[in-house]
Amino acid sequence: MPSKPKSCALQEKTRGKSNYRIKRTFQSPKGMRDILPEEQLYWEKAKQIIKNLARAYGFEHLDTPILEETDLFIKGTGPATDIIEKEIYSLKTKGGDQLSLRPEFTPATIRAYLENGLSSWPHPVKLYTIGPIFRYERPQKGRYRQSEQASFEIIGQQDPILDAQLIQLFFAISKELSLKNLTVQINNIGCLSCRPIYRKKLVGFYRNRKKQLCLNCQKRLQQNPLRLLDCKENECQQLAQEAPQIIDHLCDDCHNHFKNVLEFLDELALPYILNPYLVRGLDYYTKTVFEIWPEEGRGRQISLAGGGRYDNLIKLLGGKDTPAVGFAIGLDRIVDLLKTRDIKISPRTRPVIFLVQLGDLAKKKSLKLFEELRRSGLEIDSSFSRDTIKDQLKTADKIKARFALILGQKEVLDEAIIIRDMVSGVQETVPLVNITKEIKKRLRSK
Ligand code: HAM
Repeated sequence: MPSKPKSCALQEKTRGKSNYRIKRTFQSPKGMRDILPEEQLYWEKAKQIIKNLARAYGFEHLDTPILEETDLFIKGTGPATDIIEKEIYSLKTKGGDQLSLRPEFTPATIRAYLENGLSSWPHPVKLYTIGPIFRYERPQKGRYRQSEQASFEIIGQQDPILDAQLIQLFFAISKELSLKNLTVQINNIGCLSCRPIYRKKLVGFYRNRKKQLCLNCQKRLQQNPLRLLDCKENECQQLAQEAPQIIDHLCDDCHNHFKNVLEFLDELALPYILNPYLVRGLDYYTKTVFEIWPEEGRGRQISLAGGGRYDNLIKLLGGKDTPAVGFAIGLDRIVDLLKTRDIKISPRTRPVIFLVQLGDLAKKKSLKLFEELRRSGLEIDSSFSRDTIKDQLKTADKIKARFALILGQKEVLDEAIIIRDMVSGVQETVPLVNITKEIKKRLRSK
């Protein structure tokens, strides 16, 4: 018998014993959450500050698709990273393409830079992106499967001043958000010429001590030995303290680069800690790597931001040999910290006038009037679906509107409107044509 087309099979499956008739409730996917209206104030504020400062520091806004070819991340982020081995969300499209939800922005930004000819722009090219990233991690506070990043990339120059300027940008953002007590953890993990020599030394050190390592690190030893330095298991941390340190094996170029970055940070009086165990979990880094931690984060992996130099990534992704440096801020963690530290964000501007309508004729006119008042620059609110004056004035009172404008049947016919002072309760009827002028005059005199 010929097999049924798939759509028929699906219909049959869902008919009768159908799932869709069974009453059930739904929850957001594990590790993903709703951002409710009361939290939006924090998000809007953080994003606004980031966008303003990005512009002030000369960054241009770029948006890339949420899905990219999976190979872009395997190659860019690195095949032996946690992101690729455990965390990436991948799918095969109906047409057979292998795509992944972006787990970070950097490879996607470089893809866009190469694909759209941005490499012919005057350099450095400074780009920033804001949006969701996806990582299949074990969910906990500050670690989500869908989170948001603001990612900044400076492409085309090797000057250490740029590494420092990115850190300065982060502190400018945190200052505007009133976030204090943050520190930079910084390290230099060498380049293609000095790192392989160090790597060999490190593998040599661990070879005889392999049994003392956690299972994860035993596996990582061949593929990604630098990651052994930032393992959080006790045994591994103790061993790391005896391991050779990269700082003693940097070539002159990396050494000078590091020294210069630190001198710039000193000049800016930004607080930093030299952390020889900081290696970061992405394969593309060269030279400078850094993370920014809140004081509360000691001992826990909750960096607010992280980044570093990646001088080989553009070539790796098919471009010319072009240095670059960047970092990304975790917006969920910024918002979590603002709330933990009870930092108040001033609410949106409150509507100063509330439009009340009574009767069918007034209701008909009220939509147009609302739009005219809004366009004149007044902060206005209304509840068109309520019909009684009592209910509407109650709402006006609740949102602390300064004036209520009352439009009834009689007012429409007389081409007038009532202004009610919500503090004193005094009401006055004025010609409708003068309403904007009248309200603005009253607001100025209050
Ligand atoms: P990353 O350290 O993987 O770096 O992520 C940067 C920041 O994103 C972290 O410091 C953290 O605040 C936030 N973040 C990452 N994963 C999660 C999560 N599961 N839940 C909540 N927040 C999270 C990068 O992604 C690099 N692309 C940064 C970069 C840009 N390097 C150079 N240019």
